[in-house]
Amino acid sequence: MDFSLSEEHLMIRDAARDFAKTELLPGVIERDNKQEFPAEQVKKMGELGFLGMMVDPQYGGGGMDTISYVLAMEELSKIDASSSVIVSVNNSLVCYGIQAYGTEEQKQKYLTKLATGESIGAFCLSEPEAGSDATSQRTTAIDMGDHYLLNGTKNWITNGGTADYYLVIAQTDKEKKHRGINAFIVEKTWEGFEVGPKEDKLGIRGSDTHTLNFNDVKVPKENRIGEDGFGFKFAMKTLSGGRIGIAAQALGIASGAYEMARDYSKIRKAFGTEICNHQAIAFKLADMHTKIEAARHLIMKAAWDKDQGNNYDMSSALAKLYASQVAMEVTVEAVQIHGGNGFVKEYHVERLMRDAKITQIYEGTSEVQKIVISRGLLRD
Ligand code: CAA
Repeated sequence: MDFSLSEEHLMIRDAARDFAKTELLPGVIERDNKQEFPAEQVKKMGELGFLGMMVDPQYGGGGMDTISYVLAMEELSKIDASSSVIVSVNNSLVCYGIQAYGTEEQKQKYLTKLATGESIGAFCLSEPEAGSDATSQRTTAIDMGDHYLLNGTKNWITNGGTADYYLVIAQTDKEKKHRGINAFIVEKTWEGFEVGPKEDKLGIRGSDTHTLNFNDVKVPKENRIGEDGFGFKFAMKTLSGGRIGIAAQALGIASGAYEMARDYSKIRKAFGTEICNHQAIAFKLADMHTKIEAARHLIMKAAWDKDQGNNYDMSSALAKLYASQVAMEVTVEAVQIHGGNGFVKEYHVERLMRDAKITQIYEGTSEVQKIVISRGLLRD
């Protein structure tokens, strides 16, 4: 067993850390206030290779491992979780999904642009009545011979307004239930596709989350991913990797808040001494750090499983469940350590606390992770 990071891993972590400090930090509070999409920052992340980190270099990606991706996600998320979710969805849902299950033509046409950030992707599974209960797809994709006709509504879609390409999950054959679901690559410019209202959110307010409507959108047959009926398995397999990215986002939110609280406790004085000298604060820091370290180990194990070619359904669910819980607990404590200042926007920790909540909800709620974990435990 080897817990050390390679030279390359350390370089990637430092590059992400520098980028977050120099490019994401300026304006992060304003973007949150105004719900402004970080367009310039996303463009730069694309140029630096953060949007297609694990994609094969032959399709314009960085060819990196999942450990590298997790390290970058943590650093970006310490400063700006709105930007890091864009990185996560593009990398581990959209790029991974097409690289792992797409045809060569789909990879040449779409993956090459998504991996470099020339285009942005979105993953469309959730519906008004199909969130956790993802097999209950109401969006239909009727087989018309040479194309599918797509109709329905998708909800809470990250990158909903800004994406160019959308991976859309829809029901083709209702009789076959989840085995009659398909996944498609849909282009924004196609007739009948409409971006609906933008959500006004508690956290990750810089990311753009929309309802999407599909009204008789013609999807060519060659844009289906995998065999007929593969769509639900595609979504599940892709989400297993996505959950590693969101776990790393939660880790970054927690460690960012922890570092700010630690530093603040060394300068803020009360009762004649820096507050870190009070055991009430020092023990909070000890608890926060312990939880962060435990979350980091679960995430690294999941990333390692993926890189080794092991099944990572269970390890990614463990990592996401625990890291998102830690993100909530640690950010609440970070606000508490900051006292009145913690409640004020300029100190950042209140934003991290708001951002933490979504990590317990998207890409499978904590309750869904417990379904995956308990079924895994009881299967054999
Ligand atoms: N890999 C491959 N196949 C899988 C699988 C996996 N990890 N998990 C399930 N399946 C297969 C099953 O084998 C089964 O197929 P067969 O019958 O052919 O064997 C099929 O999928 C249905 O599985 P279940 O019977 O377990 O389905 P279920 O209805 O009980 O639901 C669930 C299981 C785990 C709750 C699933 O519905 C789920 O993960 N729900 C949450 C969905 C989710 O994560 N949504 C997030 C939206 S995307 C997002 O948030 C992105 C963003 O923008 C940030």
